[in-house]
Amino acid sequence: MILVTGGLGYIGSHTVVELCNKGHEVIIVDDLSNSQLSVLDGIEKLCGHRPIFERVDLKDKVEVMDFFKKYQEITGVIHFAALKAVGQSVDQPLLYYENNLVVLIYLLQELKKMGGTNFIFSSSCTVYGEADKLPITEAATVKPATSPYGNTKQVGEEIIRDTCKVNPKLKAIALRYFNPIGAHSSGEIGELPIGVPQNLVPFITQTAIGLREELSVFGDDYPTEDGTCIRDYVHVVDLAKAHVAALDRLMQGRNDLNYEVFNLGTGKGSSVLEVIQSFERVSGQSLNYKIVDRRPGDVIQAYADTKKANEVLEWQVKYNLGDAIKSAWDWEQRIKKTTTKG
Ligand code: UD1
Repeated sequence: MILVTGGLGYIGSHTVVELCNKGHEVIIVDDLSNSQLSVLDGIEKLCGHRPIFERVDLKDKVEVMDFFKKYQEITGVIHFAALKAVGQSVDQPLLYYENNLVVLIYLLQELKKMGGTNFIFSSSCTVYGEADKLPITEAATVKPATSPYGNTKQVGEEIIRDTCKVNPKLKAIALRYFNPIGAHSSGEIGELPIGVPQNLVPFITQTAIGLREELSVFGDDYPTEDGTCIRDYVHVVDLAKAHVAALDRLMQGRNDLNYEVFNLGTGKGSSVLEVIQSFERVSGQSLNYKIVDRRPGDVIQAYADTKKANEVLEWQVKYNLGDAIKSAWDWEQRIKKTTTKG
């Protein structure tokens, strides 16, 4: 049985579906702090059955211990449950260190008690900061974090690495995501940002549907071809499949080391203006946007060298930027319909 923490969240829910598709039995833990129980209905439709769901506050050590006592048949953990808003982390660092690191420690303590298991960690390309060389390989230097959020990903990786070093039966993979976007093609699950989206693609789709007046493009004077920042936008379903590939690698004992890291991206960089153009192409409508000042903390360019994930995880992306943006737009229209229905 595979435990998916944060399994009702954006990447978590898509991963649960891919795990079910591959015949894994899944148990979802979520505290619903940044997700909705209705996501379970979408998962149920796509999986053909309703996975077990437990509402657990992972910050509560006793709740974590009780949970692992109850479910002794867990053989793998994919740990998504964490906070991810960069700006909020600057204002509330302790909230981030507690949610993203204390929880990680409690989980690892339980896995250690179990005698070890297979563990997948959600990390981020934010660990590379402004990389010296592009595309970014896993060997690139980890740069000092520019936010408490970014720091939780770096320190989280170190905590896992050090724990694996002295517990050979604990096998872990950290997956460094580039920019996940898009939604499931069924329209049953997708991203559900609470409040004003901080990320580019949900902000674009919310502007186009009329929830936001206009998109602010943060800076057009960067040293890139069109002056806007470059990122590697990866379809969430492709990303979800990489989690299953990583887990299978550990479960089948194909890992070379008991702690490994992989980049997950498409390998292709796209500028903010290219993302807007792609949106306009797939939606057939023009987007209201203006150029504003740079956003503090943004790196100029980040895109992945995906060779290691391609070769070792035998994982390839299936979707391009246009596919991913189209799915995000379909999803936005779908949730508007459902929320205005009654
Ligand atoms: C951000 C975080 C990253 C984190 C990820 C989690 C920062 C600096 N980085 O990535 O650490 O792992 O979210 O989801 O916050 N943009 C606009 N207008 C907007 C929103 C974004 O122009 O309203 C631009 C940004 O300047 C950037 C690109 O779009 O160039 C992507 O931004 P975003 O979606 O926020 O992702 P990252 O900043 O790459």
